[in-house]
Amino acid sequence: MNSTRQTVIAGNWKMHKLRREAQEFCRHLLANLEEKPAASVILYPSFPLLADVATALDDPRVSVGGQDIHPAASGAHTGDVSGPQLIDAGCSWVLCGHSERRADHCESDELVARKAEAALQHGLTPMICVGETAAQREAGQTFEVLDRQLAAVFSQDFGEFALAYEPVWAIGSGLSATPELAQEVHAFLRQRLSDLVGPEQATWVPILYGGSVKPENAAGLIVQPDIDGFLIGGASLDPDKFLAIIRQAAPAA
Ligand code: PGA
Repeated sequence: MNSTRQTVIAGNWKMHKLRREAQEFCRHLLANLEEKPAASVILYPSFPLLADVATALDDPRVSVGGQDIHPAASGAHTGDVSGPQLIDAGCSWVLCGHSERRADHCESDELVARKAEAALQHGLTPMICVGETAAQREAGQTFEVLDRQLAAVFSQDFGEFALAYEPVWAIGSGLSATPELAQEVHAFLRQRLSDLVGPEQATWVPILYGGSVKPENAAGLIVQPDIDGFLIGGASLDPDKFLAIIRQAAPAA
């Protein structure tokens, strides 16, 4: 973690929780969160929970985001959700290109780029997810894959965003990347972003790690110089685990 950059701790609830559980989580989170947390905190609930969560979290310490966005502002796209609808539901962030969407919904790099553009156009901050599969890592293609995923999305004059490195083999597997491995990739991503969006923005952009982050492994990851926070799936469903990770984001005194 670099003290000049904003630390971001985000919870990706995926297709979990019902409204009552979500409201209970939000009450517990706000009651136990520090008055001035060291990190920006974001929750990404599924679409039917968004408005409830945004209302329950009407608090400057926590932001709400959607898990996906359609590139169009409105139209005949059954099952999709647009940027203006996300804003209307209380979102300020949106995930773009999560590996589960890339895999389950055949999202191409090009579609992820259009989603990120739509987010910016509608005033949402995109959190763009990249990461290699186990097969790609074993074949020595990690940096090539990441390079392709970045080059499809970013160019000069890109708006404000966050990047999440989520190795697909680490998601939901219990097998987190080691701090050294994650740092190596994050340094590579920042260097490539510097080429694509310019050195100044690349210096400031938060690059989050995601993939089996838990209270037990967060401390070793967050001290790495290019890891600026986490995108957390499983452990973000339990407010006490999520809070324990947020507390570890405090800069060393
Ligand atoms: P996980 O998920 O923390 O359960 O591995 C991370 C993610 O997919 O965002």
